[in-house]
Amino acid sequence: MAQSRHWVHTWAAMPMRAEADKLPPRIFVSLFLGVQDRLEDKLINQRLKIRNKAVFHNTTIRQTVKITLGTENYFRLRLSNAFGSDDLNIDRITVALAHDNLSGGSKIETNTLRNVTFDDGSMTTKIPGGAQAVSDPIEFGLPLPTNTVLTISLFLENGQDSQTGITSHPGSRTTSFCSLGNCVSETDLTDSSVQPIEHWFYISGIEVLAPRDSCAFAVIGDSITDGRCSTTDGNDRWPDLLFSRLQSDPVTASISILNQAAGGNRILADGIGPNVLSRLDRDILAHSGVEYVLIFEGVNDIGTAEANEQSQSTIGDQIIAGYRQIVTRVHARGIPIFAATITPFGRRKGEIVVDAEAEGLTGYSHPIRDRTRQRVNDWIRLSGVFDAVIDFDRVLRDDNDSAVLKKEFDSGDRLHPNKQAFHALAEAFPVDIFERFRAF
Ligand SMILES: *[C@@H]1O[C@H](CO)[C@@H](O)[C@H](O)[C@H]1NC(C)=O
Ligand SMILES: *[C@@H]1O[C@H](CO)[C@@H](O)[C@H](O)[C@H]1NC(C)=O
Ligand SMILES: *[C@@H]1O[C@H](CO)[C@@H](O)[C@H](O)[C@H]1NC(C)=O
Ligand SMILES: *[C@@H]1O[C@H](CO)[C@@H](O)[C@H](O)[C@H]1NC(C)=O
Repeated sequence: MAQSRHWVHTWAAMPMRAEADKLPPRIFVSLFLGVQDRLEDKLINQRLKIRNKAVFHNTTIRQTVKITLGTENYFRLRLSNAFGSDDLNIDRITVALAHDNLSGGSKIETNTLRNVTFDDGSMTTKIPGGAQAVSDPIEFGLPLPTNTVLTISLFLENGQDSQTGITSHPGSRTTSFCSLGNCVSETDLTDSSVQPIEHWFYISGIEVLAPRDSCAFAVIGDSITDGRCSTTDGNDRWPDLLFSRLQSDPVTASISILNQAAGGNRILADGIGPNVLSRLDRDILAHSGVEYVLIFEGVNDIGTAEANEQSQSTIGDQIIAGYRQIVTRVHARGIPIFAATITPFGRRKGEIVVDAEAEGLTGYSHPIRDRTRQRVNDWIRLSGVFDAVIDFDRVLRDDNDSAVLKKEFDSGDRLHPNKQAFHALAEAFPVDIFERFRAF
């Protein structure tokens, strides 16, 4: 491999522990569940624990991902057992172009099918608990264009112990498929057991061998970045839209985007996924070719802290201290870090709410919490700690009421921006900052 090329991550998903309701359908949890179908889920789960049944026993998982940057020749796959306390044994892996280049299908372009090997030719891989595995370079034999949808098929003969943590990215907004039996090389999955499931399992990254001036932009985020309110299989999250913009300018066309976000994620505390301070190394700094980082998080830290002066003053202090830690650690690697301001989550003045939950509104809205958000945003804008500030708050907030989203950007719950807002965020992104911090 020529020295003028290097490995750059072109796609990533944040590894998380699959919660009980995010596991695959029952038939992929145990072969013996058929006879227990009449029992309540709870009872089945109890029995599973007792019997130690395997998840994905005798199962093919077929998943699609849309890469950002392409490659002339080689790419590699990374699989994660970050949350497993037990070995993850994968017995066969293939990649292929997705049929018609579409996300969320079960069909592949069979003539592009390749076996994925590990450790210089092995068809199987054993990934210890907490670890990851990098595949051998996959020589595709044809260039892999930018924005291509790849299909990755994993076959697990014995599955993974149900008591161990199953590593997954629940918020994939992409349809995956499970099938009984080894079908990794089939053009389509046709077994009667086949079931769609909108999560990713075990896949955590794809790297391409790319020219020296290619690099990655890693985004640390929550549901707004993970793609809540985006189109399932549509790849229209705001970073996807930003990537199209980067592609249209030769100055930024060699920058990939890594979406390292999860719904509900917080900077300071675990919850849905580990906190940012704990995942920064694994999810951001350990990736190949990262030369830019953005943090767009904090709303869930504010929103889950109690709405009183004391709690909000404390959480505000802690968020700012957390940002400082993150900046120091990213800078220690010689990488610039940008911050996006936190977008509004308040309700309109005079808005009458009888039952917030029934009306689909989030419970974050509160003037005291908005004050914390404004305080943190002012600090982001004025402290000079970040290499650049992306003022997403300014893009999305109502001109007459800074505590609320513009009407046309509100998905309906006052917190999550809609698709129109994703376009606005991508459009407003100051893409000139990349050139300013270009390492080459
Ligand atoms: C993958 O490996 C299997 C088993 O060695 C082999 O039969 C098959 O032809 C290989 N497929 C491709 C596409 O190379
Ligand atoms: C897939 O579609 C993208 C446009 O979204 C295009 O740039 C790319 O070349 C296509 N890949 C293949 C293999 O056709
Ligand atoms: C795995 O599933 C396939 C397809 O349903 C079935 O034919 C095969 O017997 C199963 N293998 C085992 C070991 O249960
Ligand atoms: C802001 O308020 C003014 C005066 O009440 C009104 O005319 C205008 O339409 C409002 N703008 C928005 C964006 O709501």
